[in-house]
Formats: sequence, structure tokens, C-alpha cells
Amino acid sequence: MKVIGINGSARRDGNTAILMEEVFKVLRSNSIETELVQLSGIDIKGCTDCGTCFKMKNSRCAIEDDCVNNIIERLKGADGIILGSPVYMANVTPSMKALMDRVGRVSKANDSLLKRKIGAAVVAVRRAGGMTTFNALMDFLLVMQMIVPGSSYWNIGVGRDPGDVRDDAEGMETMRVLGENMAWTLDVLRSYKDIPYTLESGSSV
Ligand SMILES: Cc1cc2nc3c(=O)[nH]c(=O)nc-3n(C[C@H](O)[C@H](O)[C@H](O)COP(=O)(O)O)c2cc1C
Repeated sequence: MKVIGINGSARRDGNTAILMEEVFKVLRSNSIETELVQLSGIDIKGCTDCGTCFKMKNSRCAIEDDCVNNIIERLKGADGIILGSPVYMANVTPSMKALMDRVGRVSKANDSLLKRKIGAAVVAVRRAGGMTTFNALMDFLLVMQMIVPGSSYWNIGVGRDPGDVRDDAEGMETMRVLGENMAWTLDVLRSYKDIPYTLESGSSV
């Protein structure tokens, strides 16, 4: 089992990365592999609405000269996905938005590539906009048909300068509980993966 985290912050190894690592620690202690992809310093172009993904249906974005297709391949191979973003002007960062737009379109064009993966959103905030940002990430996870476990509070840590979130004891605890609930859900998935489950419609998955 593997969980990939995407950190949309412009600041590498900042508060968002620290919060995500707190979730990762619990996952690793449950024998779940983790990988953090940091978008800092990477230019991610926005969706051009060219429609090629819907025409080609090859699980790729037509924009080939950035990292998005590589990220799509890595997300396809993961059992769980954590999207992390600091709050920028009361919303997600531009890189995270561009990534969600393009991965979202490619996923929709290809029978929902991320369907039934375990998902979570993590947010770092200085003061305001935490819930809006959290909900923006959650909207993506849910419309991708992902399964989203919760935590003891919404997955938000408070801090401004890198490392500040470590002083937010409740935020850090929320990340650890999220890790436990993700690990539990992944374990259930692992146990049931090989047992064919018949939906009411009669189709097996
Ligand atoms: C461009 C920009 C916009 C920001 N907008 C907000 C905001 O709207 N609300 C807020 O509380 N913090 C805002 N912040 C502060 C960051 O959310 C905060 O410092 C966060 O901890 C950064 O996380 P990071 O270290 O992972 O980048 C902003 C920071 C930047 C660089």
C-alpha cells in the first residue's frame, strides 16, 4: 500500500510539508509506503480546455512539457492521495489549482482514474481562509470519486513561518488522527481487495 502526498506550497519543507509528514509518520508505522511530491519551484501550466484528453482518452494531458503527466502516472499507482496546500488569498495555491484542473479533466476523460482511492486534504493557514481552502481540496477529492476518511477536527494547522505549525498542538494531533483513519481505511481496502463485491446492479468490482 502506498500513499502519495502532493504539497502545493511555493515553500519547500514549510508548514504544509510538516503537517503532511505528521500524517505520513503514522502511515509508515502501519507499514504503508509514503512519498511526498513538492510543487515548489515547478511551473505548472493551467488547463487550456483543448479537449484532447476527452478525444484521446489515453490518461494523459496534451501539455507534455511539465510534470503533470508524470504526477498522473504516480497518482494512478497509489492507493491513497493527500493533497496539501497553504492558504493563499483565502484559497489553494496557483500550482495546486492548476494541477487539480488538469488531473481532474484527464481523470474525468478516462472513467475516473482516481476512483475509490483513499483521499485526504491538509491545509496550513496563518489566520483566515482555512476552511475555504480545505473545502476546495475536498471538492476535488470527492468529485474524483475518492473515499475520504475524517479526523478529530478539520485537517488544518495554524502557523506563519516555517515550523510554526509544530506549536499548534491540536492541528498536529488532527494530522495524527487523520493518519490513523487513513491507515484503518487502507487496511480495510487491503483485506477486501481480492474479494469480488457485487453491487445491487449486478456488476462486480
Ligand atoms: C501569497 C500568499 C498568500 C497568503 N494568503 C493567506 C491568507 O489568505 N490567509 C492566511 O491565513 N494566510 C495566508 N498566507 C500565509 C500562509 O498560508 C502561511 O504562512 C502558511 O503557513 C504557509 O505554509 P507553507 O510554509 O507550507 O508555505 C499567505 C501566504 C502567501 C505567500
